[in-house]
Amino acid sequence: MNGELRTVMQVFLRQRGRVAGSVALGAGMILASVGLMFASGYLISRAAQHPPILHLMVVITSVRFFGVSRAALRYAERLVSHDLTFRALAGLRERAFVALTRRSPLELLSRRSGDLLGRVRSDVDTLQNAYLRMLAPAVVAGVVSALTAALLAFVSPLLAALLLALLATGGVLLPLLSERLARRWNREAAELRARYDADLLEGIQGLSDLLASGAGGAFLGRLERTSRQLEALQRRNAALGGLMGALSGLMGHLGLLAALLVLVPQVSGGSVPGALLAACALGVLASFEAVANLPAAYQFRESARVAAARLHDLERAPQALLDPPQPLPLPRDATLRLEQVSAAYGKRTVLHEVELTVRPGERIGLTGPSGSGKTTLAALLLRFLDPTSGRITLGGVDLRDLELEKARAQIAWMPQEAPLLEGTLRANLRLGNASVSDLELEELLHELRLEALLTRAGGLSGWLGEGGARLSGGERQRVALARALLRDAPIVLLDEPTAHLDPVTERAVLSAIERRLNGRSLLLITHRPAPLALASRHVRLEAGRLREFQAAMD
Ligand SMILES: Nc1ncnc2c1ncn2[C@@H]1O[C@H](COP(=O)(O)OP(=O)(O)O)[C@@H](O)[C@H]1O
Ligand SMILES: [Mg+2]
Repeated sequence: MNGELRTVMQVFLRQRGRVAGSVALGAGMILASVGLMFASGYLISRAAQHPPILHLMVVITSVRFFGVSRAALRYAERLVSHDLTFRALAGLRERAFVALTRRSPLELLSRRSGDLLGRVRSDVDTLQNAYLRMLAPAVVAGVVSALTAALLAFVSPLLAALLLALLATGGVLLPLLSERLARRWNREAAELRARYDADLLEGIQGLSDLLASGAGGAFLGRLERTSRQLEALQRRNAALGGLMGALSGLMGHLGLLAALLVLVPQVSGGSVPGALLAACALGVLASFEAVANLPAAYQFRESARVAAARLHDLERAPQALLDPPQPLPLPRDATLRLEQVSAAYGKRTVLHEVELTVRPGERIGLTGPSGSGKTTLAALLLRFLDPTSGRITLGGVDLRDLELEKARAQIAWMPQEAPLLEGTLRANLRLGNASVSDLELEELLHELRLEALLTRAGGLSGWLGEGGARLSGGERQRVALARALLRDAPIVLLDEPTAHLDPVTERAVLSAIERRLNGRSLLLITHRPAPLALASRHVRLEAGRLREFQAAMD
């Protein structure tokens, strides 16, 4: 087991009591089968000798006991091991979530994030099964093999040794061999699955574009190709699994044969009572249940290893944006200043030496064609991205010298692509400010002309998001705008607040923004002219360079 997988296993192993309980119950369950077969074999042979019925009472009772206890033990074992799994799953999810929050928000918002998120989700899904499908079967197999062989050694040490050898072949040797064979296939399958997830998500997000441009067929074709490749791999894997299953089944029957070969001479020689022949032979056969799950466990180990390594990489990836080691206190002055700021995505510079000052209470309108870098400028102010050169200061202090969360809290931001959370309308709005009363929320919704949404959702407690009321683009934007306006921050940063609105609603929304500013600074990003009326100064971005216009409203 490699280091990463071991770290994941610790999440399970930490629950010592449950692990011990589930192993004891799981081993007990298989031993009950062995006992059942042994006792039955003994009973049948012994009964054939017509002893007084009273002599059989103990055996008859043990047959009943083993038969009933197997079901009970199985039930209890499932209960304990699944409880353990769910507890560990909570821990795994938290680890993955924390690791994701360390990534730059820009990366998480980008389109390719479907790949990242889908992969993390499927890795966690895989790892949650690590105990049930890998660890527990292995430990239980060890315990059961050792106990059965030890008991059998009282009858015949040679047979006990043979049994151990056959169990090891079926449980360790064959699975190791098949794992070797399947290793590459598993890796390929994981990659294909990730590709499939990413493509599918992208396709769904861009469904309308795909349909409109007639590219739906090509998209489906690509999905189908990936899926066919995946299927071929899975079929090969299944064939291998089937073969290994047959071979390990064969081990059980070889065990039976060995028992007969070893014991028949001893029974004829009189050194072993005849009734023990069938008992031992059937008990040996039953003991192979202990290793029946091991081939699957080995196969699983490979995918678990890949998943653990990826989760580990995600956790170890350098944090995109860091708090300074010694943060400076937050300045009182809310002046934002960009000094010779350049910014890039990878190697591509998209902002060039931008100079801009937003004084407290000032209202600036930022325009520019699509792709000119407006949203990137917003990302810089929020520190989703750091400049490649130059600096951004708040009250004269470089943003990078401030605690990340405190600096971000100075800006009430409405993103261009506003996410809605699965939850109530109230919860979605209160993200902006948790202390606002229902009355105030409703008032704001009215100002933003969202009465229809309020009614449709069935009030503030109505459910939004994927399962709830469907929102139009414009409604979604206004919910995000409301959230931003509610936030108690000295600087308001709005990215295309009226992009999806008709002129009448736009006017209403703009006057709501105006009323709600209360003297706060405003940086308004827009490619439409109307919102610029709110601003007292206009700047324009063109291909990443900022041009200043003279005062617009005098
Ligand atoms: N997350 C990103 N990764 C890589 N390139 C990006 C990313 N976001 C934006 N860009 C690119 O940066 C440029 C500026 O984009 P953006 O700031 O969104 O412009 P605007 O908001 O003015 O339309 C564009 O060429 C865009 O393709
Ligand atoms: Mg933009």
